[in-house]
Amino acid sequence: LNVDGGPVVLVTGANRGLGAEIARQLGRAGATVVLTSRRAGDCDAVARELAAAGARATVERCDVASIDDARDAVAATVRTHGRLDAIVNNAGVVEPIGRLGDTDPAAWAAAVQINLTGPYHLIHAALPTFVAQKRGVVVNVSTGAADRPREGWSMYCSTKAGLVMLTRAVDLEYRDAGVLCYGFRPGMTDTGMQDVIRASGMNEVSRVPKEKLLPPARPARIAAWLAMVAPPELAGTECSVQDAALEARAQAWAEGR
Ligand SMILES: NC(=O)c1ccc[n+]([C@@H]2O[C@H](COP(=O)([O-])OP(=O)(O)OC[C@H]3O[C@@H](n4cnc5c(N)ncnc54)[C@H](OP(=O)(O)O)[C@@H]3O)[C@@H](O)[C@H]2O)c1
Repeated sequence: LNVDGGPVVLVTGANRGLGAEIARQLGRAGATVVLTSRRAGDCDAVARELAAAGARATVERCDVASIDDARDAVAATVRTHGRLDAIVNNAGVVEPIGRLGDTDPAAWAAAVQINLTGPYHLIHAALPTFVAQKRGVVVNVSTGAADRPREGWSMYCSTKAGLVMLTRAVDLEYRDAGVLCYGFRPGMTDTGMQDVIRASGMNEVSRVPKEKLLPPARPARIAAWLAMVAPPELAGTECSVQDAALEARAQAWAEGR
């Protein structure tokens, strides 16, 4: 994206983990980053860090489970920065973990509202701006677990599989309007989510040693590249950290900037 002053990119769940690292990479690459978190104040430390490194960053509260929060965050972004160029739908939860019959239905439904309805909320709220600008980018953070059931992860695998289809639906309906939507699979990354998985003891992923996990910077670089460069030939598809050619492109971009 070639936007004067850098594109404006909104990241959900930017207070920690992969979202915070995606925000750092975006800031380094010259984007104006809108950091969002479900609780007010949670992104302040990351915002201060970005500002100290010379990046432009603002914070907004956004619980992605709420359509009102999504609308308010998008409206505040457009008020503050005059535009919105990309959304990174990063916020997500892996719990409830447990064999299907052992999970609490209310907790399962609440997690769907975050992992699947959440990205829909942000896209729904941003579409009028994207369509008016005749361009916009969406990066939906998915996972290899979208294609592969794992014991104890019925909510996680089901919602992420739904997210893959949401990416394709947005591509089908809005590519002609200039909206490019990507799925992105970060691989097993060393964040709080993997701490939760390890503590659960459920399935083989919980036994992957911490030192085998990816440092967040590796997947985050690719997510930032997708949000800012938006390669048209990859729109509507799932992009993976395991794709060496993709990683090389993102790396070359990061080194050249
Ligand atoms: N780590 C991995 O190995 C891995 C692998 C594949 C895919 N992913 C995906 O990568 C994304 C980021 O995960 P992570 O590893 O960075 O996990 P994490 O460290 O647990 O961070 C999750 C983030 O999502 C936020 N969040 C949760 N519910 C929210 C809500 N209702 N509204 C707004 N924000 C909410 C959390 O905010 P709070 O601080 O308020 O809880 C936190 O910022 C997720 O979509 C995950 O599924 C991760």
